[in-house]
Amino acid sequence: MKNIESQNIPKLDGNFDKDLLQKAAKEFGTPLYVYDLDRIQEKYEQIKAAFGGRKTMICYALKANSNLSVIKKLASLESGADCVSLGEIQRAILAGIPKYKIIYSGVGKQEFEIKEALKYGILFINVESKEEMLLVEACAKELGISARISVRVNPDIDPQTHPYISTGLKENKFGVSIEEAKALYLLAHNSKYLEPVGIHFHIGSQLTKLKPIAESAQKIAQLTHSLLALKMDIKFFDVGGGIGITYSDEVTIKPYDYAQVILEELRGLDLTIICEPGRFIVGNSGIFLTKVLYQKEHQNKRFVIVDGAMNDLIRPSLYNAYHQIVPFVESQDVSPTDVVGPICESGDYLGKNISLPILQNGDLLAVLSAGAYGFSMASNYNTRPRCAEVAIEAKKMRLIRKRESIEDLIALEKDYL
Ligand code: LLP
Repeated sequence: MKNIESQNIPKLDGNFDKDLLQKAAKEFGTPLYVYDLDRIQEKYEQIKAAFGGRKTMICYALKANSNLSVIKKLASLESGADCVSLGEIQRAILAGIPKYKIIYSGVGKQEFEIKEALKYGILFINVESKEEMLLVEACAKELGISARISVRVNPDIDPQTHPYISTGLKENKFGVSIEEAKALYLLAHNSKYLEPVGIHFHIGSQLTKLKPIAESAQKIAQLTHSLLALKMDIKFFDVGGGIGITYSDEVTIKPYDYAQVILEELRGLDLTIICEPGRFIVGNSGIFLTKVLYQKEHQNKRFVIVDGAMNDLIRPSLYNAYHQIVPFVESQDVSPTDVVGPICESGDYLGKNISLPILQNGDLLAVLSAGAYGFSMASNYNTRPRCAEVAIEAKKMRLIRKRESIEDLIALEKDYL
């Protein structure tokens, strides 16, 4: 055991009060996701305020956390939605996001999804290739309407983030080059069934540097000027999402500075800015609660085996992502510990070399910053039911998703035996 400075021990704050969390674990069991809806509001308001009086629409990226109650909270704050599947569009609508505030992105939209989105009358579809644009045109023609679109432009800028979540380089599958975008806009402009209303880029996620954002905004603003010069009626400048959060000691981008670099590039352009934050709004607003099952030590290595696993929170296994893990027992006497789950893979861990005090089986651990890409990336691997989700708002907690049962997991198979 070694003594570490108390300021290095991460803490639970805001609505994440230990007594309340103990109560949540008792009432709803573990593992468990818990979200602080007040913090979600605070984060939404921070990003909205950063753009000041400018015409802005925050389209929350549902993929980060698509629980209906989370979306409903954001809908109540007048958020729009950035969706990447028909399922997400339906969630957004069900949670109360107006259709005219929904945008639809993604590289592989299918015909039935495009048609459905057009029938809903969403704000616009972000097209990512010529083939897709032609399909959108054909669908619109069949429906006898004109489809509002925007083209996702790949500015070929290194966002300086994890390669798996970097999307704005020419070797990434996303969007089209600036040259191709021009051709697509011309095509759309001359089509009876397409209405190019927006321009879009998104260079990556967990961005902590402003420069790549500024450079991308500059390139895309230049392109916008040339489109406007051709009398195209571009109304929306969609800067994507990607603002990073603090998982350990990252110095992150301040919303105000973020807005400033974008506004700077947009000088002289009277466009509505669309911003698609996901992680920024929900990342630090959620924790993952798990319980110690067993403990062991071999070859001088300490393992704590918990009831949460990579199927619940895959970020550590998939991206080698670091999440702080906070024990409920307070002690400065800590030793490096691997916090691992029950899944049959060595990659099943929530944290490696985490400083933890002596624990008893049954003790709770809180994995911090788990509100984004936690539950939304959960799976049923090892036939593990996905866990429950709880919301806390004004110190009151409520269940917002029931724990799955084994019955739920086999429901679609059992009739085929
Ligand atoms: N807009 C588009 C077009 C996107 O592709 C994404 C994220 C967002 C907005 C929201 O990005 P955010 O603001 O959350 O960074 N599973 C990974 C993150 C994947 C992000 C994919 N696209 C992770 O756990 O880190």
